[in-house]
Amino acid sequence: MKPRSNTGPRHAPGGSRGPDGGHGRSDDRGPARGPSRPRHDDRPPPRMRDREHGDQDFGPPPGRRRPLAHGPGEISLHGPPELATPLADTIAGARSLDGDVLTHGFHVWPARMHRAIAGDLIALLAPRVGSTVLDPFVGGGTVAIEARVRGHHVIGVDANPLSALVVRTKARLTSADDRDAFGVLVEALTERSFERVRERKGALAKIHGEHLGLYGTHTLKELAGLLEEIRSLDPQIDPADREAALVVFSSIVGKVSNRRADTSDEDVRKRIRKGLSTELFQRKGHELVERWAELSRTVRVRPGSLEVLTGDARALPRLLNGKAVDLIVTSPPYGGTYDYVDQHALRLDWLSLPRTHFERAEIGARRHGGEVERWDQELGDSLAAMRAVLRGPASRVALVIGDAQLGPRRLDAHEHVLALAPRVGLRPIAGASETRPDHLGGPQRREHVIVLGPR
Ligand SMILES: C[S@@+](CC[C@H](N)C(=O)[O-])C[C@H]1O[C@@H](n2cnc3c(N)ncnc32)[C@H](O)[C@@H]1O
Repeated sequence: MKPRSNTGPRHAPGGSRGPDGGHGRSDDRGPARGPSRPRHDDRPPPRMRDREHGDQDFGPPPGRRRPLAHGPGEISLHGPPELATPLADTIAGARSLDGDVLTHGFHVWPARMHRAIAGDLIALLAPRVGSTVLDPFVGGGTVAIEARVRGHHVIGVDANPLSALVVRTKARLTSADDRDAFGVLVEALTERSFERVRERKGALAKIHGEHLGLYGTHTLKELAGLLEEIRSLDPQIDPADREAALVVFSSIVGKVSNRRADTSDEDVRKRIRKGLSTELFQRKGHELVERWAELSRTVRVRPGSLEVLTGDARALPRLLNGKAVDLIVTSPPYGGTYDYVDQHALRLDWLSLPRTHFERAEIGARRHGGEVERWDQELGDSLAAMRAVLRGPASRVALVIGDAQLGPRRLDAHEHVLALAPRVGLRPIAGASETRPDHLGGPQRREHVIVLGPR
């Protein structure tokens, strides 16, 4: 049986120091104050949404703030209308739905898929509960959460080692006891962190020089102290809770840095007062508890298993070790559009997660300089790997993918996938595309939902 003690070795729970009343404030007035009222009353704490989703705490919004495929573009169909129309409906339907329900928006993830698109595709293509659903580019876990809610077994893969922590935490199904225990753990960590701030206790931030400059001295010390407290938790504590505490920590390190946004390179001067990092940690910790409760209430079927692996999607057969899947729903990188390694560099650094393999494995990265042949090979190899793990003729692959921007060249992703599919033993079944404004100011791009089956 898993140990349930979450209070750690040194402090009794409760009596922690926190924000005034514990609700909503994230300004920077004055040093750490205390004590807050206990958090688990009948009022849920306010959600501190990720900056992508409307958080206005620190300055104006970054460019892209909503989960993908949530725009009012024109939709076109590909293939038999009876198969393509439901795909178009998933795109159109998502426009009016909140992307940030359940645990979806708990931790920022660039280019997050809209949860309604993931949910609809799973409902459409895996109608039987208990199927095995794979997302080989699982990122922040949208597909994993939606598949779990529907009672499927889930396998997630991502080259970014942070993804496994984030997805396991966001897709975790908890009991009321689990949530209470985690709430107590958050309070204990908060209390220890405030104590360190009051006593001016030093801690060494083990992050690279390029990141040290993003923080004021006291914020750096406070974050390093908080991380030290998480790392020195009693080994008896449930490893899933320890991991969740790290994910909560990861969710705040961008917010208290001088980065304008989690997904931006732009630096701004923020005044972060002493104690604010700890308050945000406390608030996000309780937000996670609330989101978990919402997620667990939503699951009305027997939950399936969840496995999240760190690795290259092009090596799926080896990673899955002989396992076959009924359905793949995934959103691969859009060629030449993002550098995921750079966007996560700060969090990887804080959490001491290695980035070398991720750097080598990342496909479609903008830093690759727009080589068409390279992207062709990367996407082709990814599709071949997906084909190799499909269970049988009724298995399906659903891709949510945008046009590539390879240097000056725009490559239509739908045409590209259709050209690659037969080479790797896949056949197109249906698709729908939506035009979207280019956030860099270029001509419209299209995002596509493409369903493929084995040939
Ligand atoms: C568009 S994002 C996926 C977002 C995800 N659907 C969500 O909703 O959060 C693409 C993901 O592909 C991952 N990735 C890039 N190259 C990869 C590779 N070779 N193997 C596995 N994952 C990779 C990135 O780390 C990123 O998380």
